Amino acid sequence: MQADKRKPLKTVSPPTPMLTLAIESSCDDTAAAVMNDNRLLASLRSGQEDIHSRFGGVVPELASREHLRAVQPLTEATLQEAGVSLADIELIAATRGPGLVGSLLVGFSFAKSISYVTGIPFVCVDHLAGHILSAFLNETGPDFPCVSLTVSGGTSAIYLAESFTRFRCLGRTRDDAAGEAFDKVAKLLGLPYPGGPQVSKLATEGNPAAFKFPRSWLGDSFDFSFSGLKTSVLNRVNRFRQKGEEVPVNDICASFEAAVVEVLTVKTLKAALKNEVKDITIGGGVSANLALRESLARECTKNGIKFHAPQLAFCTDNAAMIALAGQHQFAENGACENLLDTDVYSRSPLGQ
Ligand code: KG4
Repeated sequence: MQADKRKPLKTVSPPTPMLTLAIESSCDDTAAAVMNDNRLLASLRSGQEDIHSRFGGVVPELASREHLRAVQPLTEATLQEAGVSLADIELIAATRGPGLVGSLLVGFSFAKSISYVTGIPFVCVDHLAGHILSAFLNETGPDFPCVSLTVSGGTSAIYLAESFTRFRCLGRTRDDAAGEAFDKVAKLLGLPYPGGPQVSKLATEGNPAAFKFPRSWLGDSFDFSFSGLKTSVLNRVNRFRQKGEEVPVNDICASFEAAVVEVLTVKTLKAALKNEVKDITIGGGVSANLALRESLARECTKNGIKFHAPQLAFCTDNAAMIALAGQHQFAENGACENLLDTDVYSRSPLGQ
């Protein structure tokens, strides 16, 4: 179990201060957080990397079972760390989707059950809304409207965020998500799961110009495509192997990362300039990538745009972003009225 150590928040308060318990279980991280009046009191995560790494990816059945094991003790530990009891909680927020249905069902049903038994109001939160808003967990948050690049293992999309609850999808991946491409390239190079951090670490030792891997621009659209890039990396690696030559892993990683970072940076900047926004945010696991953060920060400075990246603990899946999104959603739309009939979803209405 890991605690997200961070400073108190100073972001925009939701209209009604409320002590919120949030639960997140969309993939392979069980997470819980307690937030009060825009101050994060506790945020804990129980990861499953050790369980899935030997399979080279998340095994859904094992993930669900692990969530079942972790969710209650993790929630109790989070309440304890926040110094509050369940009786103090005024709002429960839980991730409804997108993600693995079995994983989602564990955290969502657990949170719904608490709400049903205690009568504490409940809000369903879209995981992507959490990632879009995660930079608002910073001490100084962006202004609306802003452009948000959301890049994780299941998603790559650019949003125009008009408020804490209104997001317009400007473009999204037509095939693999950016994180998925990192994970697949890592797997073909024989690196452990999750591959993103491994590939980016080796990339720092390699030459980003060693191989000119393809960039898929898809005309003027803000959509992405990473499958051609992944196939190109595979073909290059196979050529080395067929000739019995050593694969220059560091150069492959650096050149692959450079291709992903260039496309993500150029499209996000174009989206911001076209929509005349003054702030860009990033979120999702791939937003932990240092090369991407540096590239976006550099281009934003050149174009007079403010760049906001979440703290590393809030790039990957966490419940603090679910608490923040849930508070604003409750303030604007109220609680979920149809608790027992509300189910999880694997695909988001926000687009994936
Ligand atoms: O947001 P997240 O924790 O879970 C999803 O909702 O998917 O993102 C996990 C993804 C994985 O694909 C992982 O390889 C990638 O984020 N990732 C990275 C880095 N850290 C995590 N990709 C590139 N560079 C990183 N430093």
